[in-house]
Amino acid sequence: MRVFTLLSLGLAAVAHARPALPDSFTYNATSFLLNGEPYQIIGGQMDPQRVPWQYWKQRLAMARAMGLNTIFSYIYWNQIEDQPGQYMTHESNNIYAYVQEAHQAGLQVVLRVGPYICGEHEWGGFPAWLNNIDNMTVRSNNPQFLDRTQSWLNWLADWLRPMMISNGGPIIMVQIENEYGFYGDDHSYTDALSAQFHASFVGSGVVFYTNDGGSQSALQAGAIPNVLAEIDGSTPLSSFQGRSSYLNASSQGPNLDGEYYITWLDQWDPYTAHQSDVNNPQAIATAQSTLQSTVNSGDSFSIYMFNGGTNFGFQSGSDYGNGTEPITTSYDYGAPLDESGRPNDIYHALRQTLGQYSPHLPDVPRVEPMISIPPIDIKPSFHLFDGLPTPHKMESPTNMEALGQWYGFTLYRTTANASYSGFLQPGVAAKDRVIVYVNGVRQGVFDSRYPNNAQQNVSVTLNSGDVLDLLNENMGRVNFGSDIPYQTKGVFGDVTVGGSILTGWEVYTLPLASGMAEPCDARKPTNISSSSSPIFYTGTFDLSTVSDTWLELPGWTKGVIWVNGNNLGRYWTIGPQQSYYLPGVWMQKKHNVIQILNLEPTGQEGTVSGVTDRSWFNRPDPDAP
Ligand SMILES: *[C@@H]1O[C@H](CO)[C@@H](O)[C@H](O)[C@H]1NC(C)=O
Ligand SMILES: *[C@@H]1O[C@H](CO)[C@@H](O)[C@H](O)[C@H]1NC(C)=O
Ligand SMILES: *[C@@H]1O[C@H](CO)[C@@H](O)[C@H](O)[C@H]1NC(C)=O
Ligand SMILES: *[C@@H]1O[C@H](CO)[C@@H](O)[C@H](O)[C@H]1NC(C)=O
Ligand SMILES: *[C@@H]1O[C@H](CO)[C@@H](O)[C@H](O)[C@H]1NC(C)=O
Ligand SMILES: *[C@@H]1O[C@H](CO)[C@@H](O)[C@H](O)[C@H]1NC(C)=O
Ligand SMILES: *[C@@H]1O[C@H](CO)[C@@H](O)[C@H](O)[C@H]1NC(C)=O
Repeated sequence: MRVFTLLSLGLAAVAHARPALPDSFTYNATSFLLNGEPYQIIGGQMDPQRVPWQYWKQRLAMARAMGLNTIFSYIYWNQIEDQPGQYMTHESNNIYAYVQEAHQAGLQVVLRVGPYICGEHEWGGFPAWLNNIDNMTVRSNNPQFLDRTQSWLNWLADWLRPMMISNGGPIIMVQIENEYGFYGDDHSYTDALSAQFHASFVGSGVVFYTNDGGSQSALQAGAIPNVLAEIDGSTPLSSFQGRSSYLNASSQGPNLDGEYYITWLDQWDPYTAHQSDVNNPQAIATAQSTLQSTVNSGDSFSIYMFNGGTNFGFQSGSDYGNGTEPITTSYDYGAPLDESGRPNDIYHALRQTLGQYSPHLPDVPRVEPMISIPPIDIKPSFHLFDGLPTPHKMESPTNMEALGQWYGFTLYRTTANASYSGFLQPGVAAKDRVIVYVNGVRQGVFDSRYPNNAQQNVSVTLNSGDVLDLLNENMGRVNFGSDIPYQTKGVFGDVTVGGSILTGWEVYTLPLASGMAEPCDARKPTNISSSSSPIFYTGTFDLSTVSDTWLELPGWTKGVIWVNGNNLGRYWTIGPQQSYYLPGVWMQKKHNVIQILNLEPTGQEGTVSGVTDRSWFNRPDPDAP
């Protein structure tokens, strides 16, 4: 009952903000205080940059209707500052508009701005161009790094200033770094970063905090003097207990589990099933009772994720363990609001639990039903290698960032002028995926999910005049892991065959942001087989009703899908993802154009269609060593 009262006060303060006085958000040893009244954060996370902006409103309304009072969001630096000093704020990068939508939905906002955010996002949110700055060491007390974080934070804070709590906006808290205690313990770095946040956000009235794993070592390494230190994880009550004993007084304060996990993320893998508690009442009951006890103890939490969304484009990251562990296109995360913004049984169960603490719980908004699309007439259209741009010429290969390319594919081509035979070494390492061709005929694949696996070696024979192609796919820079050897992509260092160094390269950058236009003199692909080079397929379709769908491509091995120029992300037969989210807002009734880059054609491709229910399962990796 105490909790009910505290929370209703908090929400009342949101609904009837007194315009005459500046709003305030502070805390004492046990409570967050919104305009001086206790405020318990019943939060959940949704990242605006993983959701088509047209759907923000509906998904935020869903958050409010599940009983949440606060939305937590990561900001992806790399997508906004795409080039140094140039800020792209259109569409899903328009964080200002997103925060306004959250305010209108009756939610407070906690921004998790990193600049390193992990989030299974491309390089944890770092722009790829950081690789091009001399002496750059990210996440460290490095002058070059801190110079870039300072200009980014200044720009971001200036942009969002009207949305801050002291200006009557909904932003109450801003997180510094992310789980730094899992990465390092250089307090000179976190102190310097903290000083930047305090300077950039001065006068905004937000509470700064850090978020770390609940262990003693993680908390002590990640905590910053005079900054509230919070934990994350699935066992908030025991982590809160530890937290109070591990931290110095100046980092103590009310308890917040900044990432309560219901389940977990998905990585591309032929053996691991999709992580979800959907249709698992027992597991859902555990989440309900954990969150209920957290609220009843007067503590705060944020469900990670409330709505995970989608890694559209080439924005998914990769974990790093024994090799790379790239993240699926779907960031569904087994969340209560699924990838497409539709509530599942977890949502309804949590609404029952959390709704009792919310005095004016809105009804669950209606969502348009998904649509199905009958098999689309899609045909092989042209070979990727027939649409190549003007190459960069160089003696030995260099990484894609050095060529001003951040994402996508890079093709490295050389013509032999003598005979070579033996194992191919594709530069200092086979990074992510390298598909090897001789005279356009596929020879094999290196995949850094299988590191140092001798069986994966590709051996080639080249005669004078033969053309060797190495097609490198950037599968996402690493967001989490230790001893990460490189954050640069592409092939670099010596390429050898049988120990001999090949020189004289033509390098083609293929960012493929919105697909590829059909070249005028393209040969129609024929006799498609598993030795074919990559092929673009094209088709068109009409709809009677425009709404969201799941695209399925049974029998297609690996590639990328675009619809009307929107990059839906990568598909890969190994799973567990087998259905790809196609938002209705990216389609119209007449003449929708679908383009698919089929990286590994087989000639056995099945039909492409839209379905209303997703499937998740695994298939063997045809390229496994
Ligand atoms: C924090 O503020 C709340 C609300 O005013 C109050 O009930 C509580 O006793 C305070 N805690 C401490 C430790 O001062
Ligand atoms: C290069 O980085 C190191 C550590 O990150 C720093 O100590 C050093 O001052 C930097 N050098 C220059 C020339 O900025
Ligand atoms: C906590 O205090 C101790 C003793 O003053 C100090 O050595 C340590 O660096 C502090 N830790 C943090 C994270 O502030
Ligand atoms: C790496 O491989 C070893 C041996 O197979 C295994 O025990 C370990 O769990 C793996 N580590 C990761 C991070 O996958
Ligand atoms: C595979 O290639 C690596 C690097 O070129 C080489 O060291 C290794 O001996 C090769 N494996 C086999 C089985 O030859
Ligand atoms: C072929 O010979 C030329 C001239 O010596 C050299 O520049 C080029 O790099 C060589 N190509 C390869 C693949 O080694
Ligand atoms: C078709 O491809 C197969 C396998 O690459 C090859 O053996 C055959 O000669 C090709 N046929 C034609 C007509 O190109």
